[in-house]
Amino acid sequence: MNQWNKIAHYYDQLMSDDGDIIRQYLYDPAILNNLDHVKGKTILDAGCGNGYWSRKLAFMGAKKIYAIDTSSKLLEHARKRTNNVNIQYSTADIAKHLPFDESSFDIIISNLVLDYLSDLETTALEFFRVLKPDGILIVGIQHPLYHLGYSLKQNPKQLSKKYKESFGYFDRAPLTKLSFENMPLTIFNRTFGDYINTFTLAGLNLLKVIEPEYNEVILNLHPEYNQKRMIPRFLILKFKKN
Ligand SMILES: C[S@@+](CC[C@H](N)C(=O)[O-])C[C@H]1O[C@@H](n2cnc3c(N)ncnc32)[C@H](O)[C@@H]1O
Repeated sequence: MNQWNKIAHYYDQLMSDDGDIIRQYLYDPAILNNLDHVKGKTILDAGCGNGYWSRKLAFMGAKKIYAIDTSSKLLEHARKRTNNVNIQYSTADIAKHLPFDESSFDIIISNLVLDYLSDLETTALEFFRVLKPDGILIVGIQHPLYHLGYSLKQNPKQLSKKYKESFGYFDRAPLTKLSFENMPLTIFNRTFGDYINTFTLAGLNLLKVIEPEYNEVILNLHPEYNQKRMIPRFLILKFKKN
């Protein structure tokens, strides 16, 4: 069974429309500050989950959002959350040929999805193909140092609780992590360079590297994050097709 179908209900509840505290204070502002103009744009939300970003983009005035995902259950939750006619949901695998013509989109956003793909090359080539000239790609992933940071910081007992295997920065092997509700989720560990080189080789130009940092607001609200601020949590890459 699709690993995201198993946790779809929990994930939908956790993210809801507003996101968790990390999204609200750390992550979403970093994405929003780098989205430029959304109004009137045609956007692909690649790996849309419960439609979290699709709804935000529709609210911000995007003309049409194509929201695709492999999890039928998360798509069900997405559909239940809105019937906005500007969002079109469908099942599609972003690791394969995408069901769109070339030069279809002004913007592609793929948020916290690429970590779960075993191979990035087809995705990068397909994103390039379906982007319009001058189109923007925003990719958000868990920072390549995040898991390593935890594996070094935690003692072996804790490590075995969260991760099934230990690993290093250069280990590209799949990594199974006990995630939401202690369900195992498999991610594919990659280096910083792997991500950048795959997309630039596909023809995209890197515009910006964004590493959101914990700010005073979140640290005041949740002092426990002081422990975590030394380990980068997310990496956002902004590319352009030109
Ligand atoms: C962490 S969730 C992120 C969801 C959404 N982008 C968000 O920001 O809330 C990861 C999503 O990636 C989807 N996904 C994983 N592999 C995929 C693939 N090959 N093609 C399309 N979606 C995929 C999962 O089904 C899940 O909805």
